[in-house]
Amino acid sequence: MFSSRASSGCQMLRRSLISTRARSYGSSSGGASTKLHPNQMAVGVTTAAIAAGYAYYKQIELPTMDVVSCSAKDEIKSGSREFFGEYWPRNIIILFGPPGSGKGTHGPNMEEMLGIPQLSTGDMLRAAVTAKSPVGMKAKAVMAAGGLVSDEIVVGIIKERIAQPDCKLGFILDGFPRTLAQADALNKMLAEDGGCVSKVLELNVPDEVLEERICGRWIHKKSGRSYHVKFAPPKTMEKASDGNPIASSMKDDLTGEPLMQRPDDTAAALIKRLNGYHSETVPILGHYAPNGIVKKINANQGMKEVWSQILDSLGKN
Ligand code: AP5
Repeated sequence: MFSSRASSGCQMLRRSLISTRARSYGSSSGGASTKLHPNQMAVGVTTAAIAAGYAYYKQIELPTMDVVSCSAKDEIKSGSREFFGEYWPRNIIILFGPPGSGKGTHGPNMEEMLGIPQLSTGDMLRAAVTAKSPVGMKAKAVMAAGGLVSDEIVVGIIKERIAQPDCKLGFILDGFPRTLAQADALNKMLAEDGGCVSKVLELNVPDEVLEERICGRWIHKKSGRSYHVKFAPPKTMEKASDGNPIASSMKDDLTGEPLMQRPDDTAAALIKRLNGYHSETVPILGHYAPNGIVKKINANQGMKEVWSQILDSLGKN
């Protein structure tokens, strides 16, 4: 666990950085010629952030960090400037919530706003299934039935992915960690680089609302973008005389490519997914709560309202 001083300072610094990026990107959006991609903004902010991070680090009373679990204690004590220069700060956000709570809906907006990638283990596994890779072959049946793929497989996928250059400034985890073993593995991976989870956004929706959301969902497989026949229909959707959508009219708004329904988006598989969520995944919150980084979001309201609460919790408003 962080000492409270270290934790609150770390949060303050991160809050100000997120605000800076968001404000800068927002304010430039009016002028097309000067508009910067969030990644460009992030690079601009990083130099200042490194200096601020290192300065903050210098003020930490090291003895208060005896119980630090979120960053590599020994490496902090060694005080390597290059270490912080290279890795501080890295914005690592977990999008947490049951199936259908809105992780896939809001993740892409966060990705665009913050300029860091959304990493969905579900999307990665579905890509592996489509590619018929060894991982995909192992995962296929488990996923369709609504079970959890093994920790070993998922941890391996994430470890490889977060080592990619686009994750250098941070990333948004969607669907990971899902078990305490995965949360421990994540801590260890991040600690190797002196990092830690910055924020956990907990999307709360009662179970009884989720069946309608899950069974009416269509997705764009390549990007993971989510649509819904009632709550978020694609622009091209046409309905047959029985009121159901015509499958061939379901196309992605951005690419025009066909949408599909996931094999695990059935009422039967949802029961299993929710059981797994409550028994295996919810306990993870206890792992992060003591650091004061879990932000509760009421995701049982309109998408705009949910997004507004997400922005609040990211420190933009
Ligand atoms: P994954 O793909 O991660 O699925 P999930 O966690 O079950 O989450 P969903 O994608 O179903 O929900 P979502 O929160 O993204 O909802 P969305 O925004 O689309 O995992 C799939 C499987 O892969 C797992 O079951 C497991 O087998 C395996 N797996 C993945 N990660 C793993 C791991 N770490 N360990 C082990 N196994 C793993 O929204 C749903 C619908 O609701 C959409 O149609 C949307 O338009 C609509 N909607 C969203 N918000 C609202 C709103 N506010 N009001 C009305 N409608 C809304």
